[in-house]
Amino acid sequence: MIPYEKYKESADYLRQRIIKTPETAVVLGSGLGRLADELESVVRIPYIDIPGFPRPTVESHAGMLVSGVFYKKPIIMLSGRSHVYEGYSPESVSFYVRVLHLLGVSKLVLTNAAGGVNESFNVGDFMLITDHIKFFAESPARGHHLPEFGERFFDLSRLYSPRMREIAKRCAENQGIYLREGVYFYMPGPEFETPAEIRAIRTLGGDAVGMSTVFEAVTAAQCGMEVLGMSCITNMAAGIIPDSRVSDEEVTQTAARLSEEFSRLMRAIISQI
Ligand code: HPA
Repeated sequence: MIPYEKYKESADYLRQRIIKTPETAVVLGSGLGRLADELESVVRIPYIDIPGFPRPTVESHAGMLVSGVFYKKPIIMLSGRSHVYEGYSPESVSFYVRVLHLLGVSKLVLTNAAGGVNESFNVGDFMLITDHIKFFAESPARGHHLPEFGERFFDLSRLYSPRMREIAKRCAENQGIYLREGVYFYMPGPEFETPAEIRAIRTLGGDAVGMSTVFEAVTAAQCGMEVLGMSCITNMAAGIIPDSRVSDEEVTQTAARLSEEFSRLMRAIISQI
């Protein structure tokens, strides 16, 4: 259980260094980190320097907090995250969300790479997350209750902000992007799923599958933040394409190929939320 003092220590460290009063923070998932290069008046802080921040051990995750100005507003971009499959607890992978809350951040944009489960999706699609399913993992809020970060029991009926979703849809439309919408299904990894698991996920209502995001979204909701989630469909999930295999190479290559288009869309959304 992480005590309140740890979050406070981390927030106090960052408050001395970042551009003041950030309202929005953006988490850039696998291979999607280049948006952080567009900030002005930048301060870059490696996660390893920030007290309490878990270190991402995955190559495609830079592990860098970037504070700067984006469309005239202070913002924080987090390039890379840690995952439960690396051995961290749900509470640890969401550590930074509570720190952001202490810094005054009230809007959190979460991005990720995900496998397409909905058979009408294509590799290269972007999916606006409308909701998520996380059945098989514990809550990041499990254990000792810290009232500074919200209620003991909290509502997730509108976890992914309807207001921000409308803005995202409008931005996609303006750019001629066909934006998919759907339910993100969390799986713990690090192995990709079996074809039978993917069929089960589809039956249960999942449209995309991935190994991140849900703990951070839940933690943000508990803190009262508005959350937007966007998935990049980097591959079709296991068993959908006959005789093909799911690989990290495909995930990172697709993410790299899409990163410019993704950045363009996210830039517009972030500037309007
Ligand atoms: N499964 C789980 N996580 C993923 C996938 C997938 O197919 N693609 C990208 N992240």
